[in-house]
Amino acid sequence: MRQAGRFLPEYRKIREKHGIIEICKNPELAAEVSTQPVEILGVDAAILFADIMLPLEGMGVKYKINEGLGPVIENSIENFQNVLALTALDPNSDVPYVLEAVSIIKKKLDPHVPLIGFCGAPFTLATYLIEGHATRDFSKTKRLMYSDSKSWQLLMQKISSSMVSYLKAQVKSGVDAVQLFDSWVGCLSPEDYVKYVLPYSQEIFDQLRDTNVPCIHFGTGTSEILEKMKQAGGHVIGVDWRIPIDVAWQKLGFEVAIQGNLDPAVLLGDFSLIRRKAEDVLSRVAGRPGHIFNLGHGLLPNTPQKNVIELVNFVHERTEETST
Ligand code: CP3
Repeated sequence: MRQAGRFLPEYRKIREKHGIIEICKNPELAAEVSTQPVEILGVDAAILFADIMLPLEGMGVKYKINEGLGPVIENSIENFQNVLALTALDPNSDVPYVLEAVSIIKKKLDPHVPLIGFCGAPFTLATYLIEGHATRDFSKTKRLMYSDSKSWQLLMQKISSSMVSYLKAQVKSGVDAVQLFDSWVGCLSPEDYVKYVLPYSQEIFDQLRDTNVPCIHFGTGTSEILEKMKQAGGHVIGVDWRIPIDVAWQKLGFEVAIQGNLDPAVLLGDFSLIRRKAEDVLSRVAGRPGHIFNLGHGLLPNTPQKNVIELVNFVHERTEETST
């Protein structure tokens, strides 16, 4: 979770000379920062270095990514006309650099290390498009969602169909799994999730079925909507630390796999804390197949690299023990 960016000194060195979008648009650099964590941290999979905002440019959205703040949209969505003006993404002409990065990464990676592709989920992307930047209360998003169903439906449809073509193009270029990031969906009630979000996320998973790649469906603050997220789709549901992982899995049912759920802030502590908290996740999972050990959200910028390496080693040692 954000293993490729931010905290790695090797990444920071590249970032001193290049902006984040500049790295994303340069396939050689994007490939370099995507493979760094596998080499340096020893994690089991690589995640494509990109950002959820990249494909929106192909839909006619103008944005910047400000350090510490995240994405800022110049032409945010306020009305139906703005939604109508959004165009459909053509991955080959709009994001060729992402697809090229995927091919380079696949050549660089050991064949047994999978590459995870990803995109933003319709709701999370819609929040940036409507609010114009990160928000705490999602008031503009909810106002449009509740009071202008024509605009909301078209916006969510347009985003989901562009994300389908984006993810399909990533798969065609070689990613081994895809992750749908619905990072901010936990701000919704279960009823609103079902009405305003589920059909659009579901459409993405339905359309991806014939690609046969494993799909991860991630959100934060989702304790009360886990069953609905499962209904929307995904072979794996990603959960954060706000719910014990065994409780989450019980709610989901064991026929779906689960990813999570260490609080990334734990990695700011000392190793005895890290070990204790990681052990708690693993003992709750109790060796049941279908668990991907991960953080519940992105690594924090000041995380000491050695803590991440120690965590990876600890999880590897501990899970080798249970699988033999
Ligand atoms: O492991 C990786 O870092 C892979 C690449 C990756 C980035 N963004 C690069 C990036 C991934 C998987 C993302 C996804 C993403 N981007 C999400 C979904 C996942 C999540 O964490 O919830 C979201 C919501 C975004 C939007 C976005 N872009 C935010 C919130 C930020 C952080 C702002 C900050 O600095 O606090 C960005 C910028 C961004 N995208 C960085 C990275 C590595 C930050 C560091 C930098 O500027 O170099």
